[in-house]
Amino acid sequence: MTDWIRVAGEHELAPGESRVVWDGDTPILVVNFDGRFHAVLDQCTHEDYELSAAPFDAATGELTCLLHSARFDVRTGEARCAPAYLPLTVFPVKVEDGAIWTRDDR
Ligand code: FES
Repeated sequence: MTDWIRVAGEHELAPGESRVVWDGDTPILVVNFDGRFHAVLDQCTHEDYELSAAPFDAATGELTCLLHSARFDVRTGEARCAPAYLPLTVFPVKVEDGAIWTRDDR
């Protein structure tokens, strides 16, 4: 298991904002949804396409993939509509020492 990766200062990621960090070869997309931080693999489960380019709906917590419009719940990774059926990999997030942290815990 790897160490935690610093994402940003606790107050640097406003609600609706996101940031990508890398844990080794793993791109992790961290999103502030309504004051809570969520981390998912930055890769659509339909095809290999980064979700960091996806519009984020700050009302529903959904990412909409730019390529074919699959939607994902950023809290659970659940695929909400076709053409994606598999959920996104979800990673742990913590706020500690004034910063947001995540890691690839697989
Ligand atoms: S690559 Fe994301 S919906 Fe097709």
